[in-house]
Amino acid sequence: MKKQQQKHQQQTKRPGDHFYHEAKEQGFLARSVFKLQEIDQKYRLFPQNRREPFFVIDLGCAPGSWLQYVIKKLNKDDRVVGIDLNNITISDEHIIFFQRDINDVTSEELFNAIKTDKRFNMVLSDMAPRTSGIKSADQLRSAELCREALRVAISTLKKDGKFVIKVFQSNELKALTNDIKKYFTDVNIFKPESSRKESFEIYIVATGFQHK
Ligand SMILES: C[S@@+](CC[C@H](N)C(=O)[O-])C[C@H]1O[C@@H](n2cnc3c(N)ncnc32)[C@H](O)[C@@H]1O
Repeated sequence: MKKQQQKHQQQTKRPGDHFYHEAKEQGFLARSVFKLQEIDQKYRLFPQNRREPFFVIDLGCAPGSWLQYVIKKLNKDDRVVGIDLNNITISDEHIIFFQRDINDVTSEELFNAIKTDKRFNMVLSDMAPRTSGIKSADQLRSAELCREALRVAISTLKKDGKFVIKVFQSNELKALTNDIKKYFTDVNIFKPESSRKESFEIYIVATGFQHK
């Protein structure tokens, strides 16, 4: 193998391996947890000294490392509703899980799940489509998933709620960001250190949800 090629492989592999091993060592189900941790450290997703119960939706939550992170941040009456096509192996009194396609879950079911008439404080989405290898088709599906996540956020968030979403960079990014800006007062794009450099994924962190 040529030296330059070797160097490139080392540069792109090393961080991934580090976060993979670190996640295993700390008992997390996926390395994705570090992306949420970085986002939380930068944008303070969970307010301190909360007076009211805090409700979170985690779209595309399997295998469950974001759920593991979120429950550490929750108080007794707080809840996180996770949805995924795949099953999860963790259970906790704070977690309510739907093994479903997010398109088949109604907002009414989500509100019933938290058993109050309150709306949600935060919607997280780390959803990713199963890739086909055809770049344009994968980008299109990813953009569709983002629109579906935005629909869930709009129908469930309370005023000033937060929305964190993984997006694959494509021609759709600008239009999606503009749509998110219609509903949120502050919209930022963030690439965590723990996200592989060669990956096209970025996260949009939107705060200050306003009903239209
Ligand atoms: C990268 S994984 C999420 C990892 C997760 N955040 C964690 O920390 O363990 C992406 C997930 O999105 C889920 N997903 C993709 N499309 C979905 C859909 N339409 N409805 C529900 N889940 C979906 C996949 O099944 C997959 O488990």
